[in-house]
Amino acid sequence: MLIDSYDRVVDYLRISVTERCNFRCQYCMPEKPFSWVPKENLLTFEELFEFVKVCIDEGINKIRITGGEPLLREDLDKFIKMIYDYEPSIDLAMTTNAFLLKGTAQKLKDAGLKRINVSIDTLKPEVALAIAGKDVLQNVLDGVEEALKVGLKVKVNMVPMKGMNSDEIVDVLEYCKTRNMTVRFIEYMENQYAKAGISGMKSQELLSHLAQHYKFEDEGFDGSSPSHYFKMEDGYRFGIIEPYEDDFCKQCNRIRLTAEGFLIPCLYFDEAMSIAESVKKGDIKTAALVLKEVVRTKPEKNRWGGDDAEVSSRAFYETGG
Ligand code: 5AD
Ligand code: SF4
Repeated sequence: MLIDSYDRVVDYLRISVTERCNFRCQYCMPEKPFSWVPKENLLTFEELFEFVKVCIDEGINKIRITGGEPLLREDLDKFIKMIYDYEPSIDLAMTTNAFLLKGTAQKLKDAGLKRINVSIDTLKPEVALAIAGKDVLQNVLDGVEEALKVGLKVKVNMVPMKGMNSDEIVDVLEYCKTRNMTVRFIEYMENQYAKAGISGMKSQELLSHLAQHYKFEDEGFDGSSPSHYFKMEDGYRFGIIEPYEDDFCKQCNRIRLTAEGFLIPCLYFDEAMSIAESVKKGDIKTAALVLKEVVRTKPEKNRWGGDDAEVSSRAFYETGG
């Protein structure tokens, strides 16, 4: 078992398989970065899998594939199948923008994928164009329907932004509710890569807006998720993620791996150790030591606010947020 210095069990690995993306979301990657990681620096799926096996052997039981946009990486279904075949009981999930999902959902499900998280920030084509920099809505919605059809469980993320999509909170919630998908509203997280001038809705504003339409009860956190859940009278649950808080840190169980092989103990800090060299050499013992060291150095909590604030300079598209 992987246990950190604060007695938290680390059993969840998020793997960003590429930082590239076919969207230019205002809050994440409004411009194409100056340069992408050169293809030769990416770990191959075989190399990643060698490390994944170590992680599973050490107690990781949940893996989420993220990006950038993971479906831009060829043969992703084969990577998923490698993991599934090694440990069929693993909770295998993916975060995707859903643009390419229509043609791939069945293949991914057959490979062993169980769940996906997708972003639906709006149900209006012109707003989707403004947010993602491209006319994406129809493909996204078709992708979501396909995912549901093939039996993937789907959660939806929405980042409500004032003057942009904040008037659609109820519409997106209803869209999700009728399809039995949980929606989670995420407070906009400021970062140096985002477009200037975005004004996110705070959780209190979100809740008072929703309270005009629904009655709901606070259910608190659910397991290790950073999301706070609320239950409506008819039993439907929605979530709110407040990234500026640190109350979810005490149940944090995750570490992250970038496409280049940096293992990151906490999203909010720059600290990372590379497994690339050892994995490329086939030196799995050293990779396992790096894994343990990264778990050991996992910080107690983020320091986003206050005088000693510390914010990572890493882009969310490198780590999958
Ligand atoms: N603030 C809040 N959420 C973000 N995401 C990406 N960037 C940000 C940000 N700056 C979320 C999106 C997407 C997921 C991958 O990360 O909602 O669903
Ligand atoms: Fe791409 Fe996701 Fe970032 Fe949007 S939020 S630019 S879809 S990585």
